[in-house]
Amino acid sequence: MRLRGKICLAALLAGLCGCASPMTENDRRANALLRQMTLSEKIGQMNQIASSTGAITGPMSERLSCDEAVKKGWCGSILGIKDPAEIERLQHLAVDSSRLGIPILFGHDIIHGCRTIFPENIGISCSWDLDAVERFARIAASEAAAFGVAWTFSPMCDICADPRWGRVSEGSGEDTFLSARIAESMVRGYQGDELADSSTILSCVKHFAAYGAPEAGRDYNTVDMSWSMFKDKYLPVYKAAIDAGAGTVMSSFNDFDAVPVTANSRLLRSVLRDTLGFGGFVVSDWGAVRELIAHGVAADERDAALLAFRAGVNMDMVSGCYLKSLESLVESGVIREKEIDDLVRPILKAKFALGLFDNPFRYGGEARRHEMYSGDNMQAARELARESMVLLTNNNGVLPLREGARIALIGPYADDRNEMIGAWRGMAEPDSCRTFLEGLCDRFGQSQVSVARGCDPRTDLPGGVAEAVALARRSDIVLLTLGLPNAESGEASSLSSLALPPCQKKLLRALHDTGKPVVILLVTGRPLELVEESALAQAVLVTWHPGTMAGPALADIVSGDCSPSGRLSMGFPRSEGQLPLRYNHKSTGRPLRDPASTAKYVSRYMDVSNEPLFCFGHGLSYTEFVYDNPVIENPVLSPGEDLRVSVRVSNTGTREATETVQLYVRDVLSSVTRPVRELKAFSRVTLRADQSVEVKMTIRYEDLCFTEASGRWGVEAGDFILYAGHDCSATLSAPFSVR
Ligand code: BGC
Repeated sequence: MRLRGKICLAALLAGLCGCASPMTENDRRANALLRQMTLSEKIGQMNQIASSTGAITGPMSERLSCDEAVKKGWCGSILGIKDPAEIERLQHLAVDSSRLGIPILFGHDIIHGCRTIFPENIGISCSWDLDAVERFARIAASEAAAFGVAWTFSPMCDICADPRWGRVSEGSGEDTFLSARIAESMVRGYQGDELADSSTILSCVKHFAAYGAPEAGRDYNTVDMSWSMFKDKYLPVYKAAIDAGAGTVMSSFNDFDAVPVTANSRLLRSVLRDTLGFGGFVVSDWGAVRELIAHGVAADERDAALLAFRAGVNMDMVSGCYLKSLESLVESGVIREKEIDDLVRPILKAKFALGLFDNPFRYGGEARRHEMYSGDNMQAARELARESMVLLTNNNGVLPLREGARIALIGPYADDRNEMIGAWRGMAEPDSCRTFLEGLCDRFGQSQVSVARGCDPRTDLPGGVAEAVALARRSDIVLLTLGLPNAESGEASSLSSLALPPCQKKLLRALHDTGKPVVILLVTGRPLELVEESALAQAVLVTWHPGTMAGPALADIVSGDCSPSGRLSMGFPRSEGQLPLRYNHKSTGRPLRDPASTAKYVSRYMDVSNEPLFCFGHGLSYTEFVYDNPVIENPVLSPGEDLRVSVRVSNTGTREATETVQLYVRDVLSSVTRPVRELKAFSRVTLRADQSVEVKMTIRYEDLCFTEASGRWGVEAGDFILYAGHDCSATLSAPFSVR
């Protein structure tokens, strides 16, 4: 039963990469240029330097003057410049004063917006709205291009099941399928149909690979996982983004299978190039080539450069090791110049594809800067911000607010522009941000909304609680902004505790004691532990760090002008002790079948449930959706055939709202242990009150593939169960089988 119906990924991809790809015009142009370049100019293209005005996320090598490096042709790329005039000046220097006039590729972390800031990526992923995601990336690209930036270090494709890791804010949560769909939508948005279009930019898939699984959730820590786990859960996200055409990949800081990725040929050559057929170029992460010394696998900078080079890293981000050592490695015969050419060629080709040789100034230009904050961009940011907000609880329908209610807006994020932006802020100008207070005042009128800060994010404010309590007493409802600040999300922001700070808990308890209904607005870049908070509050709405249009988006939701439609892309744990926590965990030989059971000798904790407090896919609306009648059109699948499913969904409430229909699959019997269920399709549908529709969906055969015991990538014949519903706990089911 296990031998039929297999497809082998390697075989599939062999067609892509086994045969030499035909020579393109850009190959010819790159080769012609390579023939004119000196060895040091070639190595210069492999060197990326950083602007001292951008984000500095690690040590810098001793600094060559930027101007010197550009004039000598010693840098192919510069990252992090925020001033468009400086980009233009340096491009002039490269084109007019370097021997061959090769244009610079300017890169930047345009992660969730450039000027118009969208929610942090974890929030974006909670929209499950792929069209909106593509639109956001399109806007981010076009604003960035107007600054002269032609390359973004996004999307981050690292899935993660451990919110102690601060960079969960930059990704799309815990799930492979959802993250893959979002990653490919982002690539399409950034790169468009034509890279040479001056409003599209080159995208960079990062951090290849498995960077989201550091031991104990500590950033930069060791990653140790099985190859089957890697291939089944982690790799498909990077693959989806690469298949969508991403032109570059960033290697990750971590080690993998005991070899730092920066020096890991198995990952960067065999998996990335040979198996996935990636034909673009790889940039190291910040300083990671030199970090091979700290990893203990390189003796010195020369050794580090050689290891990264051999592994196939085309461009050295900031460490300077390539610039210092590659020339002497060639001269001493360790590396052949042809090998240098092979790694430089994809960099030059990317510059040709971007049209930089035809017009080095096609990105940027004063005239284009009016595109920032256009009405359309702001509207898109507002829509995505409200779609990202997830209503976790809503006791007695306390939300939406009733008209005329006196609103007490309390907490450290009530009126703070900067905190709305989140980590990695592109070219953000916090002043342009609309705060929660402004949004609510615009919607309800100033007389209806009063504000008190209560406390700072991590410290008490003298008299803060008393003032907040007095305000609550004069009001009908409390909207309480709690959560973690920008600075505690993103890179190097690991936390061992996911609890809210004591000052915030104290404020919540005091407000709860007033007897007024309290709605928590949770500002955060990661899931938090909310056991007490969700018991004390009447409702909890996760707003994430919502971006430029924070206030209007919040007002849209709490007023009821729009029903919340966000769904969690990552579960909220009950305790850090449960981490890593995955809805798609495996069964084990001693599974806990009844979550309420206190039986011993089964796989469970004695002091906490196995279940998250709020699970993957969860999110309430102001209406109710009822599911019935899942029908599988072709319940016996032949190899290669997609599964066609329909399910009836009815809006039984009184308002129009959007539901995200989710399909999960369990593979009942296989040659290896398999997840208890996995998301395999989803669809957003908007239904009027009382409307009922048949939602038709497809599960692709390729999404049923996994690494079999033999190591082959395929689907094993046998029985499967489909679950359809509102979140990962869906119980409505239908069987199917693969022949
Ligand atoms: C981060 C990358 C980022 C790079 C450039 C590094 O520290 O890990 O995600 O793209 O800096 O800013």
